[in-house]
Amino acid sequence: MPKVNMIEMLQKAKREGYAVPLINIDNLEWLHAVMDTAQRLQSPIIIGTAPFQVEELGGMHTVVGMIDGLAKDKGYTIPYVIHLDHGDSYERCVAAIDAGFSSVMIDASSLPLEENIAVTKKVVAYAHAHNISVEAEIGHVGGDEFNGGKEVLYADFDECVRMVKETGVDCLTPALGSVHGDYKGEPKLGFDEMKAISEAVQIPLVLHGGSGIPDEQIRKCIERGTAKINVATENRRAYHIRLRELLAADPNCIDPMKTTWSARRAIEQIVESKILLFGSKNKA
Ligand code: 13P
Repeated sequence: MPKVNMIEMLQKAKREGYAVPLINIDNLEWLHAVMDTAQRLQSPIIIGTAPFQVEELGGMHTVVGMIDGLAKDKGYTIPYVIHLDHGDSYERCVAAIDAGFSSVMIDASSLPLEENIAVTKKVVAYAHAHNISVEAEIGHVGGDEFNGGKEVLYADFDECVRMVKETGVDCLTPALGSVHGDYKGEPKLGFDEMKAISEAVQIPLVLHGGSGIPDEQIRKCIERGTAKINVATENRRAYHIRLRELLAADPNCIDPMKTTWSARRAIEQIVESKILLFGSKNKA
């Protein structure tokens, strides 16, 4: 199956009551872990890189070349999306599309609503002319590096309806209490608001800050129209715990196959657990 955009992938997920994982990647080992696991479990998958990750990895063309190249070399058959996570400007989204990303998020949620709608509309026009999907955000997902350390701001119902109606965006992140990184205590997600927004806008909803949310709450999100769930922190933690163990067990080791490559097994376990929890196994 070739690289695809998210439009049909997420509509199918919403129809059939599961969510597709977006997994942020930080290096090549990460990518192998995510794609191998999705292929083994026959799950559709969205590979996410935020602008800071794109820079770390080398740039837009490196990201696209790495993912498409791996898919080709390993003969993956699952549908995969190369998604720009938290694209911070029209120019950044256009550059991603021109480099071969199949999907972009325009995160202009810190701008006043009129400006958020205006830039999202511009991105949608460019993206749809190139058969690329677009995600937008209303309110603020809280937390750290993915969007510059914002405070949680609950999405307003009317603003969500306007955003979807006026821009033609393909999926929407209504920030409803989720946080990038670790939660302080139990997450407090706005489930009633999620249901109301989902019913009003009809398009698939997205949940950011998917790490650390209890399974029962994840299921409730999926029941309320969430069809894409983003996960980064749990993989980052599991990878580094395993890496520290490996280094401690053999302090003289200088073979990356026994350290960084081996530590990717911890990511595979997390990704497998998310695919099972989100219900995307055998949905490829
Ligand atoms: P976590 O790091 O909390 O899993 O969130 C990831 C995310 O939402 C990326 O956009």
